[in-house]
Amino acid sequence: MKFREIKNNVFYCGLNDRERKIFDELIPLEQGTSYNSYLVKGSEKIALIDTMYPPKSGEYLKNLDENNIAKVDYIIANHGEQDHTGTLPELIKKYPEAVIVTNQFCKNNIMEMLLIPEDRIQVIKNDEELSLGDKTLKFFMAPGVHWPDTMFTYIVEDNLLCTCDFLGAHYTFDDIFADDSKELEHSAKRYYAEIMMPFRKMCQKYTKQVRELNPEMILPSHGPIYKNPKFILDLYEDWSGDEAKNLVVLPYVSMYGSVEQMINYLADKLNAAGIQTLKHDIVSDDLGDLAMALVDAKTIVLGASMVLCSPHPAAANAAYLVNILNPKAKYATIIGSYGWGGDLVGKLTNMMSNLKVELIEPILIKGKAKEDTFQKLDEMAKTIIEKHS
Ligand code: FEO
Repeated sequence: MKFREIKNNVFYCGLNDRERKIFDELIPLEQGTSYNSYLVKGSEKIALIDTMYPPKSGEYLKNLDENNIAKVDYIIANHGEQDHTGTLPELIKKYPEAVIVTNQFCKNNIMEMLLIPEDRIQVIKNDEELSLGDKTLKFFMAPGVHWPDTMFTYIVEDNLLCTCDFLGAHYTFDDIFADDSKELEHSAKRYYAEIMMPFRKMCQKYTKQVRELNPEMILPSHGPIYKNPKFILDLYEDWSGDEAKNLVVLPYVSMYGSVEQMINYLADKLNAAGIQTLKHDIVSDDLGDLAMALVDAKTIVLGASMVLCSPHPAAANAAYLVNILNPKAKYATIIGSYGWGGDLVGKLTNMMSNLKVELIEPILIKGKAKEDTFQKLDEMAKTIIEKHS
């Protein structure tokens, strides 16, 4: 495959992976992903920025040969995770003169994870520059979006910014440039939800920094290149901002229909008051959809049955996921039903201890909802409506 030129001897040499169905063995991928790698040809030196996911290494190396890349001077590792560094061991054999350029944190990671010899690595610091002749690479440390070792590489003369995982999308494409479509926005939001949301404050910080730098294009490590950086920066400003939307997300698991009945009743009451709701069957629905809904939700209502004196494992899984994603929600509560006992509310509340939310009085019943249950659900709806007004 012939490398596509982005601008002035800067080329795209990444690959689509349309077959990949799940990322991190956790979140389903709707259309696979891409692993982006960039080739920068300066007048004196050649650099590769990020490399390739190991199962795609063969194709990646073959493409380098087909594009007659006989020599590489520098390989920039913006982040140690193997979807971007997986081909480093083969690359340093293929290009014996190549030096891996990265930060100290990432150096430690690639030495531990990929057994890269120390003498092949050059450590750079924040704001440091590397000359390729008529092109300069400048490095900005960006810990927290999403690993502590993350950095951005700025191609100074061309005003192109490689943002690593930040601002990316699990999105495959034939044209390398973003079309700013709703479909891309959906993928980028899902990606933000799954990978970046736990680091929301850092996303705020780097969104602002990237805006101030004002690059002509943003070159992320997944998904297409943004010729219009405003498209993705505006979205990140909204998603990572502190303001939640008028949305209640209700993930639930219901063994005999009691929890589902209560969730439906509450959602109907909220809808009637003009509040948007999103019910999510934890057992059958896509976890990525739940993560996406959490980006905007002001209130989370977790519905759970009890199994063997404990929350149903699916509810525990959802609580654990909500906890690690740590969304911006302001309020949370629990609706549960049990057969013969156990501590549902206490255990689920403990599992969501990261959340900085006000806890609305939970409802826990034995078996099916009765008249007084519906009264409690009416009170819960009234409280949520007041909080959202
Ligand atoms: Fe795309 Fe954090 O790796």
